[in-house]
Amino acid sequence: MRKMRTQRAIAVLASVLLIGGVAACGNSDTGGGGSKDDGKITMGFSQVGAESGWRTANTTSIKESAAAAGIELKFDDAQQKQENQIKAIRNYIQQKVDVIAFSPVVESGWDTVLKEAKDAGIPVILTDRSVDSADKSLYKTFLGSDFVKEGKLAGEWLVEQKKGATGPVNIVELQGNTGAAPANDRKKGFGEAIAANPNLKIIASQPGDFTRAGGKQVMEQFLKANPKIDVLFAHNDDMGLGALEAITAAGKVPGKDITIITVDAVKDGMQALADGKFNFIAECSPLLGPQLMDLAKKVHAGETVPARIETEETTFTQEQAKEALPNRKY
Ligand code: AHR
Repeated sequence: MRKMRTQRAIAVLASVLLIGGVAACGNSDTGGGGSKDDGKITMGFSQVGAESGWRTANTTSIKESAAAAGIELKFDDAQQKQENQIKAIRNYIQQKVDVIAFSPVVESGWDTVLKEAKDAGIPVILTDRSVDSADKSLYKTFLGSDFVKEGKLAGEWLVEQKKGATGPVNIVELQGNTGAAPANDRKKGFGEAIAANPNLKIIASQPGDFTRAGGKQVMEQFLKANPKIDVLFAHNDDMGLGALEAITAAGKVPGKDITIITVDAVKDGMQALADGKFNFIAECSPLLGPQLMDLAKKVHAGETVPARIETEETTFTQEQAKEALPNRKY
């Protein structure tokens, strides 16, 4: 009996020592902003949400690339709320991660939390979307698309298609969520591209929040309020796909009665383009993971990185979509 009690006491003591040892290891501070002393980089990533096919592909790219690069990823889905992103970033600061990366849901209102990260010595990388902070020292780099260019390419294609038009060409626009960089910039680029053509007129423009449901609902309103719609410019494929349902339900033929231009080129969008329901897509690549992990390693090592890294992108017509679709990864 006494022997059994002694054995149990030894076992309890051993597990206390073991747990204590593990905890001490996990809490050890590198002093340079790192959370652990195991040489592994820890990244805290705050994602916008899961609003679109693009976003799902982007999240997959980030998770897979972190695993492949041997980077420990702490991931948070902010569900479209800036306050959730700020909370996640503050948590990452408290946890002393090595690098913080995030895709800001809106452009404004980041200075305070970015300053907190800077004061804690944690480098920040912006991916996909940028912020409008005047102080560029608050983040190391911005990796993502040129959204103004995407809007411009969409507008230039339309100008070319309608160059013989004599009467008014009525355009409706489905914007992304209010205040988001791609919503602001794509609107700007598209507007600039069509500005010199008085025939091309945006008769209605509303946010559809980058979602299929939003695109469908706003397109229904557009169709009710405007008997003559010639063109839809949707700031992403998902809103365009939602709008297809509204257009078909209204007895119109998408891609014929209404010319449809979108941005992204995710698989479902490319399928709609190949099927003749969309007419043109300006690509926006979500595959930012590998470049992001590479940048994280560099900034962690104290290397200087370019302040802006632009994603390479193209455009697709219906014929080009048919060709590209079999090899489309997302
Ligand atoms: O920031 C990129 C945009 O956000 C994509 O175009 C859109 O689909 C996403 O939700």
